[in-house]
Amino acid sequence: MSLGLNVLGIDFESPLVLASGVWGVTGENLSSAIDNGASAVTTKSIWLEPHAGHNNPVIIATENYMMNAVGLPDGGIKKAKEEIQDYRKNTDKPLILNIIAGSIKDFEKITKSAVELQPEIIEVNVSCPNVANEFGCFFNSDHDSVAKITASVKKFSGDTPVSIKLSPNVKNIGEVAKKAEEEGADMITAINTVGPGMRINTELKSPILANKTGGISGPAIFPITIYSIWQIYQQVKIPIIATGGITTGQDAIEAMMAGASLCSLGSAIHFRGKKVFELIKKEMQEYCKENKISNLQEIVGVANQYNSKVF
Ligand code: DHB
Repeated sequence: MSLGLNVLGIDFESPLVLASGVWGVTGENLSSAIDNGASAVTTKSIWLEPHAGHNNPVIIATENYMMNAVGLPDGGIKKAKEEIQDYRKNTDKPLILNIIAGSIKDFEKITKSAVELQPEIIEVNVSCPNVANEFGCFFNSDHDSVAKITASVKKFSGDTPVSIKLSPNVKNIGEVAKKAEEEGADMITAINTVGPGMRINTELKSPILANKTGGISGPAIFPITIYSIWQIYQQVKIPIIATGGITTGQDAIEAMMAGASLCSLGSAIHFRGKKVFELIKKEMQEYCKENKISNLQEIVGVANQYNSKVF
């Protein structure tokens, strides 16, 4: 059975997309996600100018979560152009260009440059927990900054659809998504990492990460992802990309039932290896066969129609 679906007029062979910042350091890496079964890829967060990341150690990986404070290292939009050209040489599958900036002016500028690279979707990182900006200490998703950033990106995005990637570290993510929709967002990506959190090296008696704190991802945050998607689906009509600890076919089905049209995989690659896209596709197909689902579109958001008392 085909797991294909059309979102925002774009054909996806399956709902499984490579998440931002995980595997996509070069164009070649990005297209190797496609070779391994991803239906589309998301670039790491691209800045206008080259951006240095944090010092090592930047990642902690445990059995059920990861924590990272990489600090969004990037070569800037000029370098990204070369990487995207490499990707396009290898595949015609959709590319989601993730952008980030520290000010409204820079968001406007990077959007203009991003559009020229003709991505299928521009995804806007408004929610990195580790990088400070003009909006405050954490680059975070309060209503006002999300509204301002969305409006500034939409001013220059033309016909390219824009997805706003939201943080779960807010009171009600559904309300933040609604603000983004009101300012013209075409899509919502949820969630960015949870926290931040911290671990201590007991020998050194100090935080393990050089940045001290990091954003938490992986299976441990999956229930927060599901509740976030459910809350967003209740508030907006635009499609949702779910991301945050999706590791199995069952997880992807759950995320879609909560309201997601697409599912991005990040830490799942760490937990199950490169073949995770193929593994999850197979698991989704088995679920669909057993449950007589012929088109995945049928299950998007279905969990919202039932009162929880039913179960
Ligand atoms: C980083 C960026 C993120 O968007 C995030 O959620 C966690 C970490 C980083 O690069 O440090």
